[in-house]
Amino acid sequence: MPRVLTGITPSGTLHIGNYFGAMRPAIELQAGGDAFYFIADYHSMTVITDPAERRAYSNGIALDWLACGLDPAKAVFWRQSDIPEVCELTWLLGSLTPMGLLERAHSYKDKLAKGIAPNFGLFAYPVLMAADILLFDTNVVPVGKDQKQHLEMTRDIAIKFNLTYGETFVVPEERISEEVAVIPGLDGQKMSKSYGNTIEIFGDEKALRKKIMGIKMDSRTPQEPKPDADKNLAIQLLRFFAPKDVALDYENRLRAGGLGYGDLKKGLFEHYWNYFAPYRAKRAELAASPDYVESVLRDGATRARAVADKVMARARQNCGLR
Ligand code: ADP
Ligand code: TRP
Repeated sequence: MPRVLTGITPSGTLHIGNYFGAMRPAIELQAGGDAFYFIADYHSMTVITDPAERRAYSNGIALDWLACGLDPAKAVFWRQSDIPEVCELTWLLGSLTPMGLLERAHSYKDKLAKGIAPNFGLFAYPVLMAADILLFDTNVVPVGKDQKQHLEMTRDIAIKFNLTYGETFVVPEERISEEVAVIPGLDGQKMSKSYGNTIEIFGDEKALRKKIMGIKMDSRTPQEPKPDADKNLAIQLLRFFAPKDVALDYENRLRAGGLGYGDLKKGLFEHYWNYFAPYRAKRAELAASPDYVESVLRDGATRARAVADKVMARARQNCGLR
């Protein structure tokens, strides 16, 4: 049974890119019975410096995962910082990670290009991510396409450690499903918490309707045929929420002419809103039971630690620390 592991950083409110790119595939994989999912709160340190905000996003993500179907009876679910040994492992791995490897990281280069002042945490981020994965003898990591390079780095680091100190870590593989590899945001770029172009999974109905109705379209009249209908952003998003034939019907009507952009966006909103309706109800229930949610995370940390302790002992032993 392959062990599956993934994490999401609590640096904002989760959006449909996180849902289709990471959460839904992970939730499908929990049926395999060896699933490890965590809230990557150490990773949020480079993004957020307000403690209350960090706590609020972490709690929110816990609710999101559980509401969307993470089942604590099937998957181990915990907060990264409840197992601080991951930082110890980061040091062991970082001591073998070439500077050049980290300098080539797209995520790091993108942040520099955006004018974000770099710090050690930002630079070392792929090493912490490698530690997250290697600490649990992970076989498979379901992620969006933007994480592909980080998985390659994790593999490189694991292989180098194994060559240097003897067989210690399982070398993991990424799992990227092509149709949901990159969910576009409201502006057509990759949807991301840091680009301000997200459609949240949960939130205020009025505000979300406004966001979707505000998607920019071109100035062609409703009657004009649109041969490029399949490239329309609202059509692309609709495909995630509406049954295949319904999405195709919208696309055909847009292509033929006669369907206005306003009506298309209204349809997109309705399908999106109904898609998450059952999860919304579950989330409200969970939000009223913070003690239950906390107990799930504590229990998850205990179960995750049972694995982490063994792997950490192996790593220390092999490199001559104890
Ligand atoms: P963000 O870019 O919004 O900060 P994260 O980096 O926290 O998102 O990503 C958490 C998970 O969600 C990762 O597995 C990532 O690949 C996935 N993900 C994020 N944005 C998208 C997207 N637009 N399309 C597909 N997957 C995504
Ligand atoms: N870096 C990932 C992201 O920003 C989140 C993450 C942290 C992660 N550690 C991980 C994902 C380990 C998979 C496995 O999306």
